[in-house]
Amino acid sequence: MQKLIIQGGVPLHGEISISGAKNAALPLLCAALLTGESLKINNVPALHDITTMLSLLKQMGTDISGSNNEVVLSAATLSQLIAPYEMVKTMRAAILVLGPLLARAGEAEISLPGGCAIGMRPVDLHIKGLQAMGAEIHIRHGYIHAVAKKLHGARIVFDIVTVTGTENLMMAATLAEGTTILENAAREPEIIDLANCLKAMGAKIQGAGTDIITIEGVPSLHGAEHTVMPDRIETGTFLVAATATGGEIHLKNTDAHLLDAVLDKLTEAGARIDSNGNWINLKMNTKPKSVNVRTAPYPAFPTDMQAQFMSLNCIADGTAIITETIFENRLMHVQELKRMNASIEVEGNAAIVTGIAHLDGANVMATDLRASASLVIAGLIAQGETVIDRIYHLDRGYENIEGKLSALGAQIRRTQ
Ligand code: EPU
Repeated sequence: MQKLIIQGGVPLHGEISISGAKNAALPLLCAALLTGESLKINNVPALHDITTMLSLLKQMGTDISGSNNEVVLSAATLSQLIAPYEMVKTMRAAILVLGPLLARAGEAEISLPGGCAIGMRPVDLHIKGLQAMGAEIHIRHGYIHAVAKKLHGARIVFDIVTVTGTENLMMAATLAEGTTILENAAREPEIIDLANCLKAMGAKIQGAGTDIITIEGVPSLHGAEHTVMPDRIETGTFLVAATATGGEIHLKNTDAHLLDAVLDKLTEAGARIDSNGNWINLKMNTKPKSVNVRTAPYPAFPTDMQAQFMSLNCIADGTAIITETIFENRLMHVQELKRMNASIEVEGNAAIVTGIAHLDGANVMATDLRASASLVIAGLIAQGETVIDRIYHLDRGYENIEGKLSALGAQIRRTQ
């Protein structure tokens, strides 16, 4: 199994380019199922989850072509309306084919995602919403069997804010008969990106980015071309790494407006941040100050940045409280950081982190995607060598991370 080996203690310096957002690209690829015409998606990041999604769509009959980061999908005929267990178990985002398949083909069979490393993560709200739109759904032998001759519009009030739930229902509603209103919808920028692509395909959507989204169904959608938005979590991860190591980095092809809550916290920690248009520059020349973090749906502080801020707080001045409110088991990096000598106490869904002078390099194990990012940051600031095991978690969400970190001066390499 591949490992990452990091020699810590080098401040990051230099310029890199940010990739397209994983969590925007995944639903955008699924949107191809909504039309028989070609959908071209640009700025697609090269990641394991994207490869898995493309093979799932291919299995369903989608023709896929293109090169590098540009993918052309053409779902003229859908031959197989199934997302098998083997694929859903490695990538929960496979649930995003449910809405489009049901809306276009009137049928879908999707393996029920199980719990995962960070929490239970049920999909009951996706199912409830589609039922409100007229789908008949039964769970049999671990699969969601869904049938609907024609979905109809409905008013759906989410009792919990769900990102992929909002995306699934928004996609389904584009081809439903009548108007669908999604209330307490997720406001994440990835929802706006998906809505923009759907609108380019002929969908009628209003309010994406607010908590009420109105979708007026149309009889069919057509082909379009769309460019994936920048990855705000990759951006934030590099900014935390530069803050923690005390360096100066310039990130291109990104957007500071996607990261208000994260940039506020980095400024509070002592970083100097400039941004304009599509770049962000961060300079850190003091020891970081501890910053409290409480995760919540967008525009509040993202759960996908919680683990990275944990590593930063490990070597900051003072004590910070990090509270995770979205997922019930997303503090697993704590045990690994403690192996690097971090001073962290967990109480329920909160971690109390007391900054120490330095972390010690150690052998650690990645438990999920963002936990692995926190271990990379910890490795970059630790004294000595850190060896990170199970880095396939990292490859699910960070394109060429060791290449980008090397370009910023980090001493990092991958073993076979
Ligand atoms: N939830 C339910 N029922 C549902 C759906 C969600 O109870 O039917 C609960 C979840 O268990 C969780 C909360 O609602 O407690 C929010 O979950 P949400 O549905 O918003 O998460 P998601 O859509 O499965 C996406 C991202 C995650 C990110 C979360 C929160 C994608 C593909 N994934 O997941 O990204 O953490 O939103 O922002 O967009 C990551 O990139 O590392 C990652 C995990």
